[in-house]
Amino acid sequence: DVVDVRNLIASGYFTYDPGFMSTAACESKITYIDGDKGILLHRGYPIEQLAAKSDYLETCYLLLHGELPNPEQKKEFVDTISKHTMVNEQLKSFLNGFRRDAHPMAIMCGIVGALSAFYHDSLDNNNPKHREISAHRLIAKMPTIAAMAYKYSIGQPIMYPRNDLCYSENFLHMMFNTPAGEKRFSPALIRAMDRIFILHADHEQNASTSTVRLAGSTGANPFACIASGIAALWGPAHGGANEAVLTMLDEIGDASNIEKFIAKAKDKNDPFKLMGFGHRVYKNFDPRAQVMKQTCDEVLAELGVNDPKLDLAMKLEEYALNDPYFKERNLYPNVDFYSGIILKAIGIPTSMFTVIFAMSRTVGWISHWTEMLSSPYKISRPRQLYTGYEQRDYEPLDKR
Ligand code: ACO
Repeated sequence: DVVDVRNLIASGYFTYDPGFMSTAACESKITYIDGDKGILLHRGYPIEQLAAKSDYLETCYLLLHGELPNPEQKKEFVDTISKHTMVNEQLKSFLNGFRRDAHPMAIMCGIVGALSAFYHDSLDNNNPKHREISAHRLIAKMPTIAAMAYKYSIGQPIMYPRNDLCYSENFLHMMFNTPAGEKRFSPALIRAMDRIFILHADHEQNASTSTVRLAGSTGANPFACIASGIAALWGPAHGGANEAVLTMLDEIGDASNIEKFIAKAKDKNDPFKLMGFGHRVYKNFDPRAQVMKQTCDEVLAELGVNDPKLDLAMKLEEYALNDPYFKERNLYPNVDFYSGIILKAIGIPTSMFTVIFAMSRTVGWISHWTEMLSSPYKISRPRQLYTGYEQRDYEPLDKR
């Protein structure tokens, strides 16, 4: 049952809900999740159908506008996004200020926040046209910025976007091509990339989306809000999990150590957790993980990848799925377990995994930001349960 907290406040109460386990902070029409049944719907459409039949930019349109586009609307949207893929040349100077070994997520937080300094023409949050242009700019420029961060870290020249390629192939082009030679990518690879984008596009009020809404509720500009979402996503309990999965596989080393690490994960005195397992909302299965697993099998077969780390991941999955501790707690591989494996197989470096999540989730963040600003809203201001000292008197320094 839904309790309207306004009645509680009126009667002098407030709710205490650490981690917001059961508190809704907003209404939303964008995404529906039933964690027990493993259902995820975007604007009513099941994620399995979108992953199988849609493409990322169409899913972006759906999330932003509420309906699937007709052919003219789709063409116009794709053309508009293509028009906005370039970033201001001055951003290259900003990029050059980072250390070469900077984590690309640090670069993303900085550069995306800095976009607010370049697009003064669209910062009026009360103007729906401005909100829409900012959304288009963000969706279009994220792959360009992400690939710039990668090229910078490996000392290669930045590749400019190619607007004749689809969104996902253009990203692969900016990541892997060089001015010395441009190749095209296989349809299976492009499709796998696109699926990763679709499966990460939105997930209602997760930690990073809630951060974007919270920042947005102060009237902050959209680029600053998305930068705050990127920062929240970076943590290993959220978007950083896909990178953490690969780090964990490195740590485990080989299959003979799996048992030892499973024991560590079960030990409550040990902070180690099995990365890529468990979810706050999905307590039976993560529907995205199921599609991702299928994509993972397809990609590994297509690429003929033979990587001992991927074999180790498959063995770990099998082991954990049959372990009573994980079964009793309904801990299943989440979307990040498989996305990490696919990204590795495609040749994406581990440090870029969370960046790719951030790129994909940008449309979700900006759709929630737009939804919030499109109707009356309040500044987000959680209460606290104070557990500190009662009032006491200041003591001079020589008396302490
Ligand atoms: N390994 C071992 N034990 C775990 C794990 C794990 N990965 N996840 C949860 N548990 C245990 C907890 O210790 C707890 O045990 P207890 O009941 O004996 O105390 C029980 O399962 C319930 O877990 P909670 O921590 O209460 O679940 P919560 O909803 O707070 O956390 C979370 C969910 C953060 C995702 C957690 O499962 C986790 O840290 N997983 C690993 C990191 C990860 O993969 N994150 C990605 C999430 S998906 C995403 O962001 C796209």
